[in-house]
Amino acid sequence: MQTEPRTLTIRRPDDWHLHLRDGAMLRAVAGYSARQFGRAIVMPNLSPPVTTIAAAQAYRDRIVAALPAGTRFTPLMTCYLTDDTDPAEIARGAAEGVFTAAKLYPANATTNSSHGVTDVARLAPVFTAMERAGLVLCVHGEVTDPAVDVFDREAVFLDRVLAPLIADFPGLRIVLEHVTTAEAVAFVRAAGPHIAATITPQHLHLNRNALFAGGLRPHAYCLPVLKRERHRLAVRAAAVSGDPSFFLGTDSAPHLASAKESACGCAGIFSAAFALETYLAVFDEEGALDRFEGFASEHGARFYGLPLNDGTVMLVRDGGEVLAAVEMDEGPLVPFQAGERLAWRMVG
Ligand code: NCD
Ligand code: ZN
Repeated sequence: MQTEPRTLTIRRPDDWHLHLRDGAMLRAVAGYSARQFGRAIVMPNLSPPVTTIAAAQAYRDRIVAALPAGTRFTPLMTCYLTDDTDPAEIARGAAEGVFTAAKLYPANATTNSSHGVTDVARLAPVFTAMERAGLVLCVHGEVTDPAVDVFDREAVFLDRVLAPLIADFPGLRIVLEHVTTAEAVAFVRAAGPHIAATITPQHLHLNRNALFAGGLRPHAYCLPVLKRERHRLAVRAAAVSGDPSFFLGTDSAPHLASAKESACGCAGIFSAAFALETYLAVFDEEGALDRFEGFASEHGARFYGLPLNDGTVMLVRDGGEVLAAVEMDEGPLVPFQAGERLAWRMVG
C-alpha cells in the first residue's frame, strides 16, 4: 500500500477574492491572509465603496499599515463599478498600476452593494476601456430580480447577463467569482480562455443543508447562498480537475458574530485564518494532492498575467483545531469551521 505523504510544500499561493474590511476589523484579519498568501485581490465593497484611484491608493496604504511587521503581502486593488463609473478613471487606474481588476456588483446583490450597477448595458464604455487596458472584470454573478428564486440567481445570471456580456466584449477577461452551481461550472468550462472562476472553501465543503443543521446557522450563510449537494459535487470536481480556469478565491468576508447572529444576519463567512488547510482537505479527500499547487498558486496568476510568487509554504498532515473565535474589542469573529479538527496545518 502506498503511504500517504505527511507534508506538502507548494509555491506560495494567492487569494483571488478577499474582503479585508477597514479600521479595527482590517487590523484584526489582515495578518491571517498575509501569513498564508503572497497576494490577494482585495474587494472594494467598503462603505463608502472604493470607486476612485485615490480611494484605492489610500485603502492600499491602510492595508499595508495593518500588516504585521516583516510580512510580505501585496494587496491587489479593485475598483467598485457603479452606474457613474468614468471610463477614463478606469483606464488611468489601470495604466498607473493601481487597479488590478474592477468589480461588478449587481445593485443590492450582497453586502455593501447598494451602489452597484443597475443596468450592465449602460456600462459599455467602461467595459471597452477595460478591454483595451487589459483590466480583469470580477463579477458577482447573481441576478437581483426578486421574482427569481434565491437558489437560481447564479444560473439565471449566466443566461441573462454573462453570456451577452461575453458576446459584446470578447476580449474582456472575466472572473465569475465564487461559483456555486453545476451550471456555472459547465459555463466556465465551455467558455474560452478569457473566462475563469474562483471557488470558496465553503462551497467545497457545505451544501445548503448546513444552513439548517439542527437550527438556523448564520455562520453558514454567505452569498451566493450554499446550494444542493449535486452542485457542491460539481464545484468540487472543477476545483480538483486541474482545469486552469478554476482557482482559489476565499471570499473570506468577516462580520462580527453579533452582526451574523441577528434577526437579519449578514452574509459572509470568515475563512482567511485557515484557508489553505480547508482547501487542502478537499484535495486530499479527492485524491488530488498533486493538483493543489495549480489551483492555489498558479492558475490565478497566469489568468491575471502576473508572475508566480517566489517562495513556498509547507503544510503538514497533523491537524489542529480551528480557532473558536477571533476576539476584537467590539466582540468575537467566528471563523469558518470554528472548533473543528483540521487534517492539515500550515507551518512556518
Ligand atoms: C461578502 C461581504 O460580506 O462583503 N459576503 C458574502 O456573503 N460573500 C460580499 C460578497 O462577496 O458577496
Ligand atoms: Zn466576496
